[in-house]
Amino acid sequence: MSNAAQDPALETLLLPVFEGRLIWPADGALFLNARDGWPLHRQPLPGLVAGQQFKPAFDALQRSGVELFDEADERRFPLVMLLPPRQRSEARALYAHALSRLMDGGVVLACQANDEGAKSAEADLAKLIGPLTVVSKNKCRVYWSQPGSAINSTLLEQWRGLDAVRPIADGRFLSRPGVFAWDRIDLASKLLAESLPSDLRGRAADLGAGYGYLSVALLSRCAGIMSLDCFEADARALELCRRNLEADAKRLPISCHWHDVTSGVPGRYDVIVCNPPFHAQVGAERPDIGRRFIEVAAEALNPGGRLWLVANRHLPYELALKTGFDAVNTITQQGGFKIIEAVKSRKAGVR
Ligand SMILES: C[S@@+](CC[C@H](N)C(=O)[O-])C[C@H]1O[C@@H](n2cnc3c(N)ncnc32)[C@H](O)[C@@H]1O
Repeated sequence: MSNAAQDPALETLLLPVFEGRLIWPADGALFLNARDGWPLHRQPLPGLVAGQQFKPAFDALQRSGVELFDEADERRFPLVMLLPPRQRSEARALYAHALSRLMDGGVVLACQANDEGAKSAEADLAKLIGPLTVVSKNKCRVYWSQPGSAINSTLLEQWRGLDAVRPIADGRFLSRPGVFAWDRIDLASKLLAESLPSDLRGRAADLGAGYGYLSVALLSRCAGIMSLDCFEADARALELCRRNLEADAKRLPISCHWHDVTSGVPGRYDVIVCNPPFHAQVGAERPDIGRRFIEVAAEALNPGGRLWLVANRHLPYELALKTGFDAVNTITQQGGFKIIEAVKSRKAGVR
């Protein structure tokens, strides 16, 4: 995201620095769950290092020249800034992570939009590190403190493990807070999995694979799948996907790619399964992202290739489907979802 008008949390996060209430440390700062945007470039922020697990946001930071943080880097920082995610366990675990990267005497600075749960996120940080300085602006709250000895070490220990990997769905999958539908099988994906015909065959891809539910379903229903590429933007989800497919990877080639699908995919496939995202990291619905996934699927399918897709019924994907494919069949509509099979012509170049 590069338009600041659409990212008031980023702008508000840096307000205490811009207004001189916090001095930018000579040794730089770590920014966790970082996003790019003009506030990061409004004035020099020497020594800024950004951590980001979501590939499109990572790529945007990289493109604008921000130094990216590698978890293997053992440095601690005099200022740790963060944009806490909405999911509370994930946000609490991120606070604990921020403290593990903070130098003695350092400052933690966080900001969240009011409609993303700012009050609870602020209260959580206060529980962990004591009283905060708080400013409300741009429908966001920015809050900070120099925790020193006020850290609640019992809570810190508990929160450190809150986003740990754990089994879900009677032990069939590994998952963790923060990834899509982390503690359940998503109903839309379940409907798609149950609708998949057993005759899908050849080289397959899963676009936006999450922790791997659809990929596992595809492989268990369709014996003719010969290889599988999983593309996923969230690095944590991708690692879970890889682990959830370990057994299948013993019998056929499976590759997991940390990849922004909206930039296109490198391979060519006979089958693509997809429950496309229709949100960016923050903010309102973005059906344009789902439409782009459909375009990318159409580009990546071989002649005769088949896309199996699930979407919320209200999402306007019909034009993208008609444009990219030769035959589009609505297989079923149930529980607010539609299952679509879209097929490319067998004659290359003919539609
Ligand atoms: C609706 S979820 C489906 C997840 C999984 N396939 C399932 O069925 O449970 C969409 C997934 O797409 C991922 N995603 C979002 N934007 C992406 C992008 N630009 N490139 C690749 N994956 C993306 C999300 O992290 C999420 O895991």
